[in-house]
Amino acid sequence: MKEKVTVCEVGPRDGLQMAHEIMPTAVKTRWLAAIAAAGVTEIEVGSFVSPKVIPQMADTDEVARFALAIPGLRVIALAPNLRGAQRAYAAGVHGISIPVSVSEGHSRANTRKSTAEQLEEVQRIIEWVRAQDRPMKVEPSCATAFGCAIDGLVPADKVVHTAVALVDAGADGVGLSDTAGYGNPAQVRSLVRAVRNTIGNHLVALHLHDTMGLGLANVLAGLDEGIRSFDSALAGLGGCPFAPNASGNIVTEDLVFMLESMGFDTGIDLEKLIAARSLLHEGLPTEPLHGHVPQAGIPRTFRADGSGS
Ligand code: COA
Ligand code: ZN
Repeated sequence: MKEKVTVCEVGPRDGLQMAHEIMPTAVKTRWLAAIAAAGVTEIEVGSFVSPKVIPQMADTDEVARFALAIPGLRVIALAPNLRGAQRAYAAGVHGISIPVSVSEGHSRANTRKSTAEQLEEVQRIIEWVRAQDRPMKVEPSCATAFGCAIDGLVPADKVVHTAVALVDAGADGVGLSDTAGYGNPAQVRSLVRAVRNTIGNHLVALHLHDTMGLGLANVLAGLDEGIRSFDSALAGLGGCPFAPNASGNIVTEDLVFMLESMGFDTGIDLEKLIAARSLLHEGLPTEPLHGHVPQAGIPRTFRADGSGS
């Protein structure tokens, strides 16, 4: 039995939030369907934010409802505040991610709140969600955990402290996000250890960017430390509008290639995944698409049935 690794596709959320054009809803839904048809079981479909802040996310209610009709798909959405969480609940998503920036500079830029205020917002969200009659998972993430484009160094103990506060608030799981993409493998190793030492298996996922070209190296470090869930974006799109110069997420196609080649089971058909790029291109014709594997082509040494090498 191969060990499973969950790949959460965040292209429709993180990937699109920096895009210069707005992807038409009709293409977005076809794109989502293609990603799911490739075997991706978890997608962050958008953000319940003000369309004035991120115009690309104005159709998240509609996109979420479409995604929820896809059998077997776990539908996640970002919600930065209670209002967003209430919209997410109304749409019926399975879970929400909430950004909590460990660095004050990014926290203010991203949510207009200090880290402590955003932690209070998470608490309000969890209390509200738990009072509803349907469950919805709340999975906040420590953003800028590996360094901040505005504040620079982010002390590890502040990350640990934030992670603990999130678990104390009742989070179902906590992620670590390299929002700026400044992390390195040694740092991933030590921070995952430090956070796991305090919150144990509540640490569920890593969200990595490839700003410095260390994205997959950082995944390896996370794998070695026992992380089995990673965010990535098709064609490596993405970046935070409030993290200046941060580049895209790690490329889903390259991540799946690496994981399957190493003998992990992602359940994803790499050929179908690469084919989903054409819809991304259709929806955002001027956006450059990244990825080593799509460019080189799947090598003959790789078994195309999704079962690795
Ligand atoms: N959905 C829709 N509209 C929302 C909203 C939500 N979740 N939250 C706030 N709004 C609207 C308010 O109704 C208000 O609208 P109005 O100007 O028409 O009255 C406006 O947005 C401002 O609301 P306010 O409560 O004052 O929020 P703010 O200006 O302090 O902004 C956030 C705070 C959190 C809403 C905003 O900074 C945000 O969306 N940040 C998230 C950014 C993000 O997703 N970044 C990427 C993740 S790394
Ligand atoms: Zn990100």
